[in-house]
Amino acid sequence: MKLTPEEQAMLAGEEGEATRRAIEIVVTLGRIYGAGRLLPVESVQVAGVSYRNIGEAGLAFLRDWAAQGARVRVPTTLNPAGMDLSSRGWRAMGVSEAFAQKQQELVDVYAAMGITPTCTCTPYLVGHNPHQGATLAWSESSAVCFANAVLGARSNREGGPSALAAAICGRTADYGLHRDEQRRATHRAQVRCPVVQPHEFAALGYLVGKQVGNGVPYFEGLDLADGLDVDGSLTPQLRDALKLMGAALASSGAVALYHVAGVTPEARERQDLCAPDLPTVTVDSLDAAMAELDGPLKAIDLVVVGCPHASFEELRDVAEGVRGKRLVAKLWVTTSRGVRDQADSEGLVQAIEEAGGLVVADGCVVVAPMRELAFRSLATNSAKMAAYALPHASIAVRFGSLQQCLRAAERGVW
Ligand code: F3S
Repeated sequence: MKLTPEEQAMLAGEEGEATRRAIEIVVTLGRIYGAGRLLPVESVQVAGVSYRNIGEAGLAFLRDWAAQGARVRVPTTLNPAGMDLSSRGWRAMGVSEAFAQKQQELVDVYAAMGITPTCTCTPYLVGHNPHQGATLAWSESSAVCFANAVLGARSNREGGPSALAAAICGRTADYGLHRDEQRRATHRAQVRCPVVQPHEFAALGYLVGKQVGNGVPYFEGLDLADGLDVDGSLTPQLRDALKLMGAALASSGAVALYHVAGVTPEARERQDLCAPDLPTVTVDSLDAAMAELDGPLKAIDLVVVGCPHASFEELRDVAEGVRGKRLVAKLWVTTSRGVRDQADSEGLVQAIEEAGGLVVADGCVVVAPMRELAFRSLATNSAKMAAYALPHASIAVRFGSLQQCLRAAERGVW
């Protein structure tokens, strides 16, 4: 691998041990994947933020790196934590004081490295919004999928340590989705059924992800004309639907990039994306996804909306759906702190809370200490949440539309 003089100096420890460790990780990964060089990275998103997941060993590893002087060189944000970081928020979730203290300690260590303590899987909705072609090292799988597919930026699916290493040395290795040739489609995904509601996009992503694994699907047959503004930009509704679809593609498979004919930036610009002889995945119906994701439960303890973290428009839809009602089941809308603040200023948080719901900023149910919280059943409009809730949080699931989820919150049954 060819390194610049500056990179060689970092590797020789001339910029300190913390940077040496960081670039060593990036170079090692690059060698494993056959990269010929490193690339300057413009933006990083770091996973490994829930204390429930990384525990004392992970916290000690990060403390040690920070104590050696690790500081990030590029704008860097964090993945969701295991709770709302405000004391009002985590107390309302029912999180224990002991967990909250450790969780905050972990975020503080990241902040000491210069990372913006914005904990979200949708950084692109709160100002961490890379331009087309930007070189990233992001690690949240749904965010990576959105950044590559919808924004046309370039990131591999980084692990937490490799993303952090990239932030500290300001480099990532030039392999995988940083390379034009790796961004070509590996499969055609022919859609032959209506896909209209957001949860249907999620179901479609779930089905296609299962079939293509870590491939790059090229979607054809989606009728998305209503989702494009006159200037060709996506409406918030289509953006949010693609957010749900990408999260599902990245969770049932390991998809980090997809294209949608006539919609996503590279599908509009590149003629060489989709070879004529690619294997084809045909989707005639979403029934198989519904059958897998939607269990036979009746009683619902918790309804979760906002996986990936809710946009302002999604929060508004929830607020309108529950305004003036009295919910029986718990309703958690997970989102970023920035979107929560915006929704708060428009009275949307108040409408949700008056109905008995909770707007959880900074956190994610999948990485929250759910065993402490004793929920047994959950309803969601996110295929990713539906797929992860049982294995990661031991919770049985119903999957359906936002309207079905809000009705379940109102009645306590599906
Ligand atoms: Fe985000 Fe958690 Fe879903 S990280 S994508 S809310 S599983």
